[in-house]
Amino acid sequence: MTTGATVWLTGLPSAGKTTIAYELAGRLKAEGHLVEVLDGDEIREFLSAGLGFSREDRHTNVQRVGFLAELLARNGVKALVPVIAPYAESRDAVRRRHQEGGSAYLEVHVATPVEVCSERDVKGLYAKQAAGELSGLTGVDDPYEEPESPDLRIESQHQSVRESAAAVHALLTERGLA
Ligand SMILES: Nc1ncnc2c1ncn2[C@@H]1O[C@H](COP(=O)(O)OP(=O)(O)OP(=O)(O)O)[C@@H](O)[C@H]1O
Ligand SMILES: [Mg+2]
Repeated sequence: MTTGATVWLTGLPSAGKTTIAYELAGRLKAEGHLVEVLDGDEIREFLSAGLGFSREDRHTNVQRVGFLAELLARNGVKALVPVIAPYAESRDAVRRRHQEGGSAYLEVHVATPVEVCSERDVKGLYAKQAAGELSGLTGVDDPYEEPESPDLRIESQHQSVRESAAAVHALLTERGLA
């Protein structure tokens, strides 16, 4: 069995979380690891259907994903989790759950600045917020509590997707997980 671990990619909308997760997943799979990507958008369609974007619902969403990721990690899977997770308290609870379960947990802050994210605006959310068609956008008019001591911080505005994924891969290797 391969060594399981959760890699949580936290950061603003359009920071690059999903893109990096899938790039890394491809590489890990090619190397023979078991990998699952628990993407925020997919999770919200099913596992967290009905939850909104209040502080409480965002917390509940993150705890559900954290629970699932820990189960996978405990069973030898690399669970890659590109989910915003704006609140430090929610992220810390997920880390604790992993510690209690004896599963490896790595927090990666995809620290792309909001100016770059709003320029990328993959889903058009920044434009909608600016036009007054949407409110509660993380990092703009909803909180994002930056991780104080992530296991890795990625400045995606200064490197390619491949380089960003390679940095996470190097961290896994350094920790004896890949
Ligand atoms: N080094 C990099 N790492 C990741 N993405 C990058 C990088 N450089 C440029 N990009 C681009 O930035 C965009 C990031 O979009 P992505 O959907 O991955 O963001 P996200 O963080 O998952 O956002 P959301 O929270 O809205 O799902 C993509 O278009 C990607 O090609
Ligand atoms: Mg995404």
